[in-house]
Amino acid sequence: MNKREIKSTLIDYNSLAELDSTLQILITKAKEAAESAYAPYSKFKVGAAVLLENDEIFQGNNQENAAYPSGICAERVAIFYANSKYPDVAIKAIAVTASTKEGFITDPIPPCGSCLQVMLESENRSDKSIQVLLYGENKITVAEGIKHFLPFNFNKDMLK
Ligand code: THU
Repeated sequence: MNKREIKSTLIDYNSLAELDSTLQILITKAKEAAESAYAPYSKFKVGAAVLLENDEIFQGNNQENAAYPSGICAERVAIFYANSKYPDVAIKAIAVTASTKEGFITDPIPPCGSCLQVMLESENRSDKSIQVLLYGENKITVAEGIKHFLPFNFNKDMLK
């Protein structure tokens, strides 16, 4: 037998001021997007903002539905929105946050598995890693690429 150990790195920051100004703006855009989420069922409003290589920012938020599985997460709304406008422009970074009736989350939330899989596809189509910024009021967690969340992933190479 052979045991494989896979290492992931997540970097935590204590305040927005520790990040460069473009990333601070991206997080502000994710927070802004959360405010207009449609989340009447979970009351968990998620906002995402995608930064493209051309420096444009696309926002998205979760869109729920009375038929629960028909809803979609904030990250995929933002990514599909950006990719539908600019299919050939790479995504540099994505910021994600959420708010409840108590305000913005204090600890960051990781994206769900489906959103990570979609982020991975975006990385693979441009061959560039995506920086992920997960915002909470007390902590901002940053990962340099989706491999830190999905080190052992299903991708197009498996379809050969
Ligand atoms: N949600 C997101 O928008 N992104 C995630 O990564 C996790 C969950 C949404 C889906 C649903 O509308 C609500 O949060 C509660 O799960």
